[in-house]
Amino acid sequence: MGAIRQALQTLPAPVALIGAKDGDRHNITTVAWICQESGDPPQVMVSIAPQRFIHDMIVRSREFMVTVMGEGDEEAALFCGTKSGRDVDKVKELGLPTEPAEVIGVPRIKGALANLECRLVDSLVSGDHTIFVGKVVAATFLEGRRPLVWSRGKMGLL
Ligand SMILES: Cc1cc2nc3c(=O)[nH]c(=O)nc-3n(C[C@H](O)[C@H](O)[C@H](O)COP(=O)(O)O)c2cc1C
Repeated sequence: MGAIRQALQTLPAPVALIGAKDGDRHNITTVAWICQESGDPPQVMVSIAPQRFIHDMIVRSREFMVTVMGEGDEEAALFCGTKSGRDVDKVKELGLPTEPAEVIGVPRIKGALANLECRLVDSLVSGDHTIFVGKVVAATFLEGRRPLVWSRGKMGLL
C-alpha cells in the first residue's frame, strides 16, 4: 500500500449506516466518509460511490437517514458494508428493529446511538464518489453509548 493511502487511513472517521427507501424497498449501507459540514442550518455531507445500490436510491428519493453506529454495532456495520442491497434485504437479514421517522419517509433504526433524518439539498460528483449534502430535519439520540470509529481499516471505540 502506498504512503498516500496509508496516511489517509490514519484519519479517524465515524461509522454510520445510510438508509434510503425506493417504493417499499428499504436499504442500508455502511459509510465512514461522513461528517457535519454546517451548523446553521445543521447539515451533513456523505461521500458515496456511484456503483453502490444506495446511491441512486438517494438521487431518486432526495432523502436519507444517517444512523450513527455505537458499541455493539460492529457486526451490523460490517455486514451492511460488505453486502449489497441489490442481492440481499439487509434490514431483514439482520433483523434490525425499525420505526417510522418523524419527517422523512426512511425508517429509523431503533436503539441506535443517533438517527439523523436528512433532506438532500445538494450533491457534487467529485473524484470517484458523489458528495451528498443533507439538511438534518429531525433527530434522535441516546446518552451514554460510545461511538464506533473507523481508522487504519479497523473499527474501534472512542
Ligand atoms: C467500514 C466501512 C466503511 C465504508 N465507507 C463507505 C463510504 O464512505 N462510501 C461508500 O461509497 N462506500 C463505503 N463502504 C462500502 C459500502 O458500504 C459497500 O460497498 C456496500 O456493500 C454497498 O451497499 P449497497 O450496494 O447496498 O449500497 C464502506 C464499507 C465499510 C465496511
